[in-house]
Amino acid sequence: MNVALIGAQWGDEGKGKMVDYLAAEAQIIVRFSGGANAGHTIVRGNEQFALHLIPSGILYPDKTVILGTGMAIDPEAMFAELEMLESRGIDWHGRVLVSDRAHIVLPRYRDIDKTMEAARRKPIGTTGRGIGVTYSMKASRDGVRLADLYDEDRLANLEPGDVEFIRAWVDRLAPLAIDLTDYLYHHRHSYILFEGAQGALLDLDAGTYPYVSSGMSGAAGAAAQGGVGPRSLDRVLGVFKAYSTRVGNGPFPTEFDTDSQSALCQFIRDTGREYGVTTGRPRRCGYLDLVALRYACLANSIDSLILTHLDVYDTLDSFEACVAYRVRGKILEYFPAAIRDLEDAEPVLRSFRGWKRSIADVKEYDQLPLEAKDYISFIEEYTGTAIDLVSIGYERERTIVRKSPWIRY
Ligand code: IMO
Ligand code: MG
Repeated sequence: MNVALIGAQWGDEGKGKMVDYLAAEAQIIVRFSGGANAGHTIVRGNEQFALHLIPSGILYPDKTVILGTGMAIDPEAMFAELEMLESRGIDWHGRVLVSDRAHIVLPRYRDIDKTMEAARRKPIGTTGRGIGVTYSMKASRDGVRLADLYDEDRLANLEPGDVEFIRAWVDRLAPLAIDLTDYLYHHRHSYILFEGAQGALLDLDAGTYPYVSSGMSGAAGAAAQGGVGPRSLDRVLGVFKAYSTRVGNGPFPTEFDTDSQSALCQFIRDTGREYGVTTGRPRRCGYLDLVALRYACLANSIDSLILTHLDVYDTLDSFEACVAYRVRGKILEYFPAAIRDLEDAEPVLRSFRGWKRSIADVKEYDQLPLEAKDYISFIEEYTGTAIDLVSIGYERERTIVRKSPWIRY
């Protein structure tokens, strides 16, 4: 059975925790997009792990994790991450594999990323990891894949420094390479979890272009870049937070950007630990944007949603969420493509009552306060999508399951 999990906002929705949680029932975890621009946090007991390239199932001793075809892999960053895991007692040998169609991030791509960013009149706010450059090289057919590492004809196109870099890593990288489609065919009776990076609104096609990442962050990427066809995905899950965040530049219609919202912004940033895992940047925060969430559901065939960080609202008397945009006097209920429309959009807000108690120890959906259930029901109705899991803290056990994605209904 194949389950895909993607971010349904601008990244940082809690994908790492949810992949780690759902991986308990999977045998194989395939990360399908992005690279070291991602930062997936997992809490295990009183330990915290920040993963960038290695799929979030790695903490279980018996799972195979695969870096998929759609990834941009920096070997230096990848082996540094594996060494970090090893030093913390996680034996990864024999169970970390890499699609031989995945592209390599060369060191000079990181420099080009930073130079291009510095030259932009309106910078995107990239993570500087060379991700966009790797995908540009891939699209211009000048990139290098794992499968090309021993191909002298391919290497002849590169600069001497690139070849030197490749020669330094090839012997460690090559043993991990697999043909992903063939591997997954042979494991077609396994439970496979496809792990997304970034989010629906950072997707190159569906996102807030040009303020996006350059990979396929949506559900389509799980198939095309995860080594299987689109009809092989049994379920698509979308993870979103009770509020919104964005890191880097670009339009953010529900951002807290007035003085009167600054206390709420700081409260959410501190309570929700909204600081970048990869760059340490404070994240921009705002109201939950239901217009954007419904768009993410539609553009990705999301079967069910996973709501995270609900506990961040525990102490609030009331809070709001955006149900439409007012753009230069006109009400919009869909997510427009034009950056100018998104920048001019003022959120039309609906108010919700808070529950004013800790929900950290809730085990069953029915034990949630009525006000929290009202919020959940409203989101479900608005998006036309069920919320099957609710996360109320970083630890694995702080997860409420209404419906397991691993059961065929
Ligand atoms: P995870 O998987 C949040 C953002 C960057 C920048 C834009 C382009 O942790 O949710 P890039 O370096 O990819 O060219 O930067 O995309 N970005 C993310 N924001 N979470 C992420 O990943 C992100 N990956 C990229 O901040 O605005
Ligand atoms: Mg992140």
